[in-house]
Amino acid sequence: MALFEWDDKFSVSIESIDNQHKELVQQINNLHDAMMEGRGQKEVEPIIEKLIGYTDSHFKHEEELFDKFNYEDKQEHKNIHKNLIDQVVDLQTKVKAGEAPLSSDLMEFLKEWLMTHILQEDKRYIACLTGNNVK
Ligand SMILES: [Fe+2]
Ligand SMILES: [Fe+2]
Repeated sequence: MALFEWDDKFSVSIESIDNQHKELVQQINNLHDAMMEGRGQKEVEPIIEKLIGYTDSHFKHEEELFDKFNYEDKQEHKNIHKNLIDQVVDLQTKVKAGEAPLSSDLMEFLKEWLMTHILQEDKRYIACLTGNNVK
């Protein structure tokens, strides 16, 4: 079962970014499923690898827009991105070491990681970016 369903409450009213967030939801669901089904390291590792790569390019995309339009909280937001990447790299290290996290911890982590960030941080740039006509 999917951990998350996309919901319009996650929308930041910018189609290009919503599409990237939808892709992240999909990838997080894939990771969640793989880990919950107890699939081996060989299967889980490439999913995490892909998630890290995609997240990195998504964060870069947002950060380029922050720089371009001089978003007032850009530094704080960039720091939060860095922290989120560190957390998923940490998870990767654990999986590589054969230490799967407890499933409840994993779910908590993935939820926090995506939902809280979109709802609490990403939502704050809407006025700045839509005001600059970003679509
Ligand atoms: Fe985002
Ligand atoms: Fe963000």
